[in-house]
Amino acid sequence: MGTMDDGRRKILLDIDALKCSYGADMVLDGVSFSLHAGEILGLVGENGAGKSTLVKCVMKLVKPCGGRVVCDCRVAAIHQEFNLVRDLRVYENIFLGRELRGRCGLLRRSRMRRLAAVELEKLGAAVDPDAKLTDLSISERQMVEIAKATIVDSAVLIMDEPSTLLNAEETGRLFAVMRGFRDAGGAVIYISHKLGEVLAVCDRVAVLRDGVLVDVSPSGALTPVELAGKMVGRELTCLFPAKLPPAEGEWVMKAEDVRAGAAVRGVSFELRRGGILGIAGLAGSGRSELAETICGIRRMTGGTLRLFGRAVKITSASDAAAHGIAFLTEDRQESGILGDFTVAENVTLSSLRRYLSCGFIRFGRENAAAADYIGKFGVKCRGTGDLLRNLSGGNQQKVAIAKNLDNRPHVFIFDEPTRGVDVAARRDIYDFIHDLAASGVACLMICSDLEELLGMCGRVMVMREGRTAGFLSGGELNEQEIIYLATGVER
Ligand SMILES: Nc1ncnc2c1ncn2[C@@H]1O[C@H](COP(=O)(O)OP(=O)(O)OP(=O)(O)O)[C@@H](O)[C@H]1O
Ligand SMILES: [Mg+2]
Repeated sequence: MGTMDDGRRKILLDIDALKCSYGADMVLDGVSFSLHAGEILGLVGENGAGKSTLVKCVMKLVKPCGGRVVCDCRVAAIHQEFNLVRDLRVYENIFLGRELRGRCGLLRRSRMRRLAAVELEKLGAAVDPDAKLTDLSISERQMVEIAKATIVDSAVLIMDEPSTLLNAEETGRLFAVMRGFRDAGGAVIYISHKLGEVLAVCDRVAVLRDGVLVDVSPSGALTPVELAGKMVGRELTCLFPAKLPPAEGEWVMKAEDVRAGAAVRGVSFELRRGGILGIAGLAGSGRSELAETICGIRRMTGGTLRLFGRAVKITSASDAAAHGIAFLTEDRQESGILGDFTVAENVTLSSLRRYLSCGFIRFGRENAAAADYIGKFGVKCRGTGDLLRNLSGGNQQKVAIAKNLDNRPHVFIFDEPTRGVDVAARRDIYDFIHDLAASGVACLMICSDLEELLGMCGRVMVMREGRTAGFLSGGELNEQEIIYLATGVER
């Protein structure tokens, strides 16, 4: 596009008075901004503010009802929800829909494999292009999804929450790739709820609130708290609820040298009624695998798990639910919730028995329960009959928590509970976990965000290489001690 902004930089993408609605709901209401060559523009806003919808309008996946998107260069996008085919190999996914063919239309498999390997290497992802997608961890899948977009020779790259599933090191490599892309004259739109990161990597930040663009500022002019304030439209104060003291009550769950293959190699802890035990550790330290083992998703190969004093064998997820163990997985799309079901159906999915009467579902009761959770969590939707996939990503996470709660568990295991959740809603979830623990449920919280872990947990178990590396509480519970135990490196 020939247009120049103030006579200097080329405008690659121009969004002009864009409007978009789903039914009667105006989701984008007159949004205008331009994206310049050589910049990374952050796009932030609360869950449901319209960020992903904006991306879909630019990619022509959703038809706007007003305004226009002017762009005559190629745009590649990473969408918030994965678009990968589970049964295909990594390189097949990367080239899906734009396979390279030689003469006679034959697939050029080895060339695609090679190019995929180069792209993954650039991202610093140790992923075999020939691996089946089902054999990858979710952060590896995210890397494949990123490679699928960066391999396209485009001028604009749009990334909708690409870093939610990545650890600090992977995020750092992603940022290096984004900066390289920008410095080569491209432009990036970067969407994330990690406001500190947004300010670090972006040149400017645009804020969407309820479908309206309320601010665009240079990143240097803002602090994370100020940015959060612009998102929610009021000043924000404390991010965490008052910390609970380490639980003194009776113990509910006791793990003794629990093992599961190579991933979990001897973990012991006690979980007491009314407490929140945090689990820290680097990626690959076995935190999620431990949770999966406790919940019967992964086979326990050694050690003992006790509940209320009795040794138990938990061999399936439904077994865990029957024992009063709830589990919020880190991978919402895999096992948490079902997109094609309504909000109400999802909430009552694992506790359906309570809503049955002579074999029939009592829809009134089901809807009332769901409406109750929607109110409690501030889930943004039109009603309990909305299909889950029509909710924004962060709101889906809130429904996933409600679904587990409806089963009235004794033990609640949270694996990265606030992933993809905006600042204000994060506080709602923190309050919720806090109240849940205070009401006597024993909580286990896996979390990569140290600030979050320290803000919520009175006691933290640190894992290293599949084992318990140590416990921290009181004065010892701080960032340095956690990192020390997690890495085993002397200060
Ligand atoms: N297909 C759809 N049908 C009906 N409503 C939808 C659909 N997709 C999104 N919405 C609604 O549009 C609003 C904006 O959603 P969008 O996904 O753009 O939010 P977002 O800013 O990306 O939020 P998040 O941070 O949670 O990802 C939400 O209220 C959502 O419920
Ligand atoms: Mg979104």
